[in-house]
Amino acid sequence: MTKIKKALIPAAGLGTRFLPATKTVPKEMLTIVDAPIILYVVEEAIQAGIEDIILIAGRGKYAIEDFFDSSYELEDKLAKEGHTHMLERLIKVRDKANIISIRQKHALGLGHAVLCGAPVIGDDPFAVLLGDEITTDDGKTGSLTSQLCRTFEEKGHSVVSVMEVEDKDVSRYGIADVEDSADNCYRVRSLIEKPKPEEIKSRWALTGRYVFENSLLSLLKEARPTVNKEIQLTDSMNLLAQNSPMWASSFSGTRYDAGDKLGYLKANVEIALKNSEFGAEFKKYLQEVSQRL
Ligand code: UTP
Repeated sequence: MTKIKKALIPAAGLGTRFLPATKTVPKEMLTIVDAPIILYVVEEAIQAGIEDIILIAGRGKYAIEDFFDSSYELEDKLAKEGHTHMLERLIKVRDKANIISIRQKHALGLGHAVLCGAPVIGDDPFAVLLGDEITTDDGKTGSLTSQLCRTFEEKGHSVVSVMEVEDKDVSRYGIADVEDSADNCYRVRSLIEKPKPEEIKSRWALTGRYVFENSLLSLLKEARPTVNKEIQLTDSMNLLAQNSPMWASSFSGTRYDAGDKLGYLKANVEIALKNSEFGAEFKKYLQEVSQRL
């Protein structure tokens, strides 16, 4: 049984859907309630038992790397004033995992971003968590990444997370054609990136959480740009699924595409509603405002 100990978080995209905010602020650093998106993603990886987290950052995205660095002056001041709880979440993360940063020199696509992590991934299987998506779980089954890691350990082959989308939305996602199954784990037949509705046999969309066998990397080395002239991860995943079993698992929790304005707002609202300090008051405010406007 191989345990997944490495995770790669691509965070080098240009964030064009979130302009003008993302002109100087990386979208992965936009705040959900009180923490940047990337911290939620890193916490999800750690919760799954990941020890080495490889951040793929790009030009102008130094803030992501700096965020995980220690900041002696600030930490010393907070310690002296007895306010260390303010940085507790961040310090916990730093203590539990090695955060390694690799530069993607040009945003050539998600497939290329994953390949940039190859020197640190070595020969191991690995998880991929998109740096602009966050997930919340039902509190019983564990985070999405821990569910995927468990399935990988059980099956011994790649496993990816999927959700069912409407026909009108399939062209926004990578779509998996899968075999029928009695439970929520399906054998993948093929995958296609951003298909036209007439090109698909199912509406299972990839959701930004994956665990891969290491052989994906050799396929990515040979990959060429396709859709949007980018090196698409989905193309190499499709080849991998032809050579080796790949499983698609549907997830019981909630996933937010926080790199998209509406998804970002939904994540903020839902996570704020669960906040123990002000969630109840915020709920009252939302009820009042929804009647007023
Ligand atoms: P997206 O396609 O959502 O990111 O990639 P993007 O390209 O920044 O988005 P828009 O469409 O321009 O708004 C999903 C994740 O993969 C990373 C992104 O940073 C994001 O976290 N990514 C994407 C890379 O690391 N490198 C790339 O070349 C592309």
